[in-house]
Amino acid sequence: MLEIDVDCLVPGITFNKPLLDDKNSRIASPFSPLTQDDINILKKWNIKKVHTEGKIISGHILKKQEENQNNQQAENENIDMSEGAKELSAGQKAKLISLYDEWLADTCDLLQNFSKGTKIKKNSVLSIIDKILLVCPENKNFFLSIAQERETTEYLFAHSLNMAIISVIIGAGLKYNNANLRLLGVAAYFADIGMFKIPKHIREKQVALTQADIQLIKTHPIHSNKMLQNYGQFPEIIAEVVMQVHENFDGTGYPQGKKGDEIHEYAKIISIADTFDAMTKKRSFRQEKIPHNIMKEMLKLVEKKFDPKIMRVFLSTMAIYPIGSMVQLNTKELGLVIDINEASPLKPKVKILYDSQLKKVNNEDIKIIDLIKNEEYKIIGVINPKALGISIVDEI
Ligand SMILES: [Fe+2]
Repeated sequence: MLEIDVDCLVPGITFNKPLLDDKNSRIASPFSPLTQDDINILKKWNIKKVHTEGKIISGHILKKQEENQNNQQAENENIDMSEGAKELSAGQKAKLISLYDEWLADTCDLLQNFSKGTKIKKNSVLSIIDKILLVCPENKNFFLSIAQERETTEYLFAHSLNMAIISVIIGAGLKYNNANLRLLGVAAYFADIGMFKIPKHIREKQVALTQADIQLIKTHPIHSNKMLQNYGQFPEIIAEVVMQVHENFDGTGYPQGKKGDEIHEYAKIISIADTFDAMTKKRSFRQEKIPHNIMKEMLKLVEKKFDPKIMRVFLSTMAIYPIGSMVQLNTKELGLVIDINEASPLKPKVKILYDSQLKKVNNEDIKIIDLIKNEEYKIIGVINPKALGISIVDEI
């Protein structure tokens, strides 16, 4: 039996069996999140302890009273709070979205000017990258979802920002220090800048590329390298790395056919970020793919295109059912993957949005199932959330 001090209860906590008070009266039903009103009533009635035969399937309890105050303070400070502690509030989400949109607007200007050869301020780029370092690893799930959803009319602008975000998240997973994360972020941000030297009618071609088109596109890392060398304001390593982003682990990439350890680790990370972000987007030449299928395709490329060591870190971040995957459970319910269990990639946390009859669940009845704690639930399939008109960012 699990016994909990009422002072340690946090709204949103959900159990798989009834939550009872000291007289065994039911306080909350199984799978029904506890509300602030429920907690207020318990306190008003001077009930000190509650108990359940079940276990916590969502949310958390406070270890001691003082943490309640700290938690409240963290909530007020919004973006400083790590996701692991609890779900982001609507206010926190809005703040993170506006941050991303600010970076994206700045990125459109900066990359447009840079591609035309207009001098840009180095600090304008570093300011975006430094904010990414500060905010994205702490809120990685949310930013990985925004990156999947946001698009710009010029594909390369959002793609460049997303490559920086995803690369920094992987770099943080590799325990890079801030100086290294900054270099990695800047290199990722400019990794595709050379694509602007490829005529637009070729890079956005609606039909299959000819061999000549492909050969031309394969020159873009060389352009990226030259553009950064001409700019001359970033460390030399940045220009070296952008040249290597399309090299493959087995030596089949371009432009130099480097392999294994000849490829800089930053370039290996950016290669993964580039592939993942590109595959989540609809392009003129293909439909977007759902994250689960992207991960399956990317896994097939381990030791061919991708370094297994870096891919392992990426996998532990994204899991086989990445955040934003819409999954069907063996109960026939449909839910969105909102968090992953790094130790058990097949058992994420799923927010149930459609019941077994495929009817939309009312907001107050939405439950979150942690598959690691609920062995009876299994994922039996994956569905494209866009087909159901679901915004991932709204639901995470
Ligand atoms: Fe590229």
